[in-house]
Amino acid sequence: MSPALFAPIKVGNSLLNHRVVHSPLSRFRADADHVPLPLMAEYYQQRVTEGGLIIAESTYITEDAGPYPFAPGIYNDKQIEAWKEITKAVHNKGGIIFLQLWHVGRGSASASSPGNKIPVSASAIAIKGKNIFGQDYEVPRALEIEEISQFVQIYTDTARNAISAGFDGVELHGANGHLIDQFINTSSNVRTDKYGGSIENRTRFALEIIESVSKAIGEERTAIRLSPWSGFQDAEDDTPYETWGYLVNQLQERHPKLAYLHFIEPRDDLVNSVYPEADRTEVVENDSIEPFRKAWKGPFITAGGYTTTPKRAFETTEKLENTLVAFGRSFIANPDLPLRLKNDWPLNKYDRSTFYTSGSVGYTDYPYYNPGTARDIKN
Ligand SMILES: Cc1cc2nc3c(=O)[nH]c(=O)nc-3n(C[C@H](O)[C@H](O)[C@H](O)COP(=O)(O)O)c2cc1C
Repeated sequence: MSPALFAPIKVGNSLLNHRVVHSPLSRFRADADHVPLPLMAEYYQQRVTEGGLIIAESTYITEDAGPYPFAPGIYNDKQIEAWKEITKAVHNKGGIIFLQLWHVGRGSASASSPGNKIPVSASAIAIKGKNIFGQDYEVPRALEIEEISQFVQIYTDTARNAISAGFDGVELHGANGHLIDQFINTSSNVRTDKYGGSIENRTRFALEIIESVSKAIGEERTAIRLSPWSGFQDAEDDTPYETWGYLVNQLQERHPKLAYLHFIEPRDDLVNSVYPEADRTEVVENDSIEPFRKAWKGPFITAGGYTTTPKRAFETTEKLENTLVAFGRSFIANPDLPLRLKNDWPLNKYDRSTFYTSGSVGYTDYPYYNPGTARDIKN
């Protein structure tokens, strides 16, 4: 019998052939206007398997959604046209592709905003430390209540853009201390209106976006990524189990047909997976995303640390129904990762120094274990 990791599962409108998911991975290989470059099509098509799910990288929903040069966007026609080439390349090989919609909120900087606008957030609380320009993070401007509904609309419009670019669905970036997460966490939200204070209020922004996006493009094409224990960009919550438990219960009640929920494991630490001096091994944690998985009846993606413990992906999917596993760093280094896992072939080692450089080195030049066979994953 084939392992559960290689058993089919329905996700949204697609029947997947296996559960090895390409985690969203920022690689900053778009152009200076945030338009995807042809090299990105090559990267993604290398990682396609028939019936395999790729979640494409964090993608800006406005021109001032984040501070990173060369991150892609999906807010204008040029970007939509360029993404079409990528979705076509993936579909031609039988893959399924979702796009991660991104607003960095207070993690951004006025220096990178076309109008030098101060970054926005749930509340006027700065992240501690330095931003990517080596300056102190700015104190963000708390969104006015009317602006919040404009943001819901922006997420909705860009979700429509993604569908017109050929994506099979969108994943809202509700994790890692970015804008949606800034509303959810107590460390970044001290609002006293209906978007702050209680759990119900702090999750309202996320739920309103889900409601509006799923109405516009369909529940089956809508998904969200969440990280109760991220710590990244100072994201911290006083009561993670209660906060995300409430959110998942609401999603189960109001939107049971969402394509999937995507949770980052507590053992994942984005900072360590991207920047550490030494490779991360397992961190002993008492916390667990298990309660959220139990509360959600649809497809559930788990991510974080499977790169260093791939065997665990087999065990997890064997034990838990409706579960898929997202791989980050090992998908960077192994274009044929599903096939390597299926056949127990050795994995290429990723090179952290080229995560965020430009061009093909460390991007599209990782070798296949067995060239030409990467599309043969079928059951
Ligand atoms: C280079 C790099 C870029 C990443 N970019 C994103 C991103 O765009 N969106 C996101 O939600 N997570 C991002 N992550 C986190 C990964 O999706 C994943 O959760 C993390 O790498 C842990 O999985 P792993 O242990 O298999 O690498 C990134 C991670 C790395 C290493």
